[in-house]
Amino acid sequence: MKNPHIAIIGAGTIGLSWAALFAATGRQVTVYDPAQDTGARLKDVVKAAAPALTALGWDHAGVQTRLRVVDDPAQAVRGADFVQESVPERLELKHEIYARIEPELTPDAIIGSSTSGLRLSELQQGFAEPGRLILAHPFNPPHLIPLVELMGNDRTEDNVLDTAAQFYESLGKVCVRLHKEVPGHIANRLQAAVWREAIHLAAEGVASVADIDKAVASGPGLRWACLGPTTLFHLGGGAGGIGGFCDHLGPHFEAWWDDLGQPRLTPETVARLKEGMAEITADQDAETLAARRDRLILNHLLASRE
Ligand SMILES: NC(=O)c1ccc[n+]([C@@H]2O[C@H](COP(=O)([O-])OP(=O)(O)OC[C@H]3O[C@@H](n4cnc5c(N)ncnc54)[C@H](O)[C@@H]3O)[C@@H](O)[C@H]2O)c1
Repeated sequence: MKNPHIAIIGAGTIGLSWAALFAATGRQVTVYDPAQDTGARLKDVVKAAAPALTALGWDHAGVQTRLRVVDDPAQAVRGADFVQESVPERLELKHEIYARIEPELTPDAIIGSSTSGLRLSELQQGFAEPGRLILAHPFNPPHLIPLVELMGNDRTEDNVLDTAAQFYESLGKVCVRLHKEVPGHIANRLQAAVWREAIHLAAEGVASVADIDKAVASGPGLRWACLGPTTLFHLGGGAGGIGGFCDHLGPHFEAWWDDLGQPRLTPETVARLKEGMAEITADQDAETLAARRDRLILNHLLASRE
């Protein structure tokens, strides 16, 4: 795929952000979404994403001319080399849209589903020939966060995953591969594990929501933005590396694992989280926090280019 023509099917939070990235990187992008205001929302998202994408080195000139909105999914995928499907997270809806696009696909087109939680084998049931449908799960917002989780299976044609990885990497994405189906893929499970314990600590009154969030953002979160947990503990193990770390601190971690909570999102727990967020947002509203988050992420991405 030299300079692929891309179809976006479903242009909400994720599809629009993908569209902004694809167009900024010089690709021709055709967008389909049944919502009447798709063109206007696309313009707004592309405009909002422009400073970050320009800072990341993409040439934003002429980006609007590379974007086209159509009102028929078949028309969107005709001639496309790559289809990024980002319709709502409902299996029957994904199957319905697959049935509409499959007859129009070019034989070499790859279809990447952005699904956060549906399994590839379930998605494949929507295709007569699912060999070119893969899981390609981004992190919000896809134009900024590099991670893409890729998965194929024994029904996936040879080289489709490699071609998809090359394509995403050409956009500056970082691809990881799943070898087995699990709900939530990799990164959402890791987020779920940390959030579960954050909620447990708040619900048990161990610390305030604000302090638990600070403990992550000012402590391990800074390290996690650079290296993963096993690599960090390998470094923490000194000369003994990860083996030495497990010998030394392994029993403590096992005792902590045994003590971790299993909270549920009961009305009381949700009320506690809401109170915590009311405190956090008392002097910085959500918009200010989101702008700070995006600025810091961008700074980190720029600084980590070595
Ligand atoms: N929001 C996230 O943080 C996030 C992160 C990663 C992946 N995802 C995944 O991305 C996908 C889309 O999620 P989202 O958050 O962008 O949802 P969203 O609700 O913001 O957007 C979905 C869009 O799909 C459109 N749509 C509805 N029916 C359609 C149809 N038949 N054909 C085409 N478009 C249709 C809607 O009009 C809407 O614009 C989901 O599979 C979700 O799991 C979401």
